[in-house]
Amino acid sequence: MAKVLFVCLGNICRSPTAEGVFSSKVTQRHLPSPIEVDSAGTAAYHINKSPDERSQREARLRGYDLGRLRARQVRNEDFSYYDYILAMDKSNLVHLQRLSPIPYRHKIELLLPYGSSGIEEVPDPYYGGREGFQHVLDLLEEATEALLEEIIKKNIL
Ligand code: 4NP
Repeated sequence: MAKVLFVCLGNICRSPTAEGVFSSKVTQRHLPSPIEVDSAGTAAYHINKSPDERSQREARLRGYDLGRLRARQVRNEDFSYYDYILAMDKSNLVHLQRLSPIPYRHKIELLLPYGSSGIEEVPDPYYGGREGFQHVLDLLEEATEALLEEIIKKNIL
């Protein structure tokens, strides 16, 4: 069983959106072997909070329910437990690489290069308007589809 962790700064905008979008794709595929999915933040500001209302609203308009997700911070055990640890931006990537024990560092990478948008980082939508949240969804829908294809290929699911 493949295990996937999406990581951003606060775990209330980008990574819970990635979790919701990717989980929905996984469910729709009816795979013979399950894929475990979670998300976390490098920062502790929003622990136990629901995803940002703006992320929830834009996700709901596209059929994703983020309402049951709750923010948590990355923990040391995540690095051994998850197979794919996918950072939303380079700042998250560097932060994760510093936190991770060396034997697990190879699991940490940026998510967007799995897709073909040519964009490397998911921009932080927190201080912007609605278009920012829609752009996050566009990027995540495209990249998580490619990620799922890759995991299916690699794991022969
Ligand atoms: P996220 O967005 O990392 O996509 O969850 C943010 C959420 C909160 C803050 C920054 C980014 N903040 O500064 O509180």
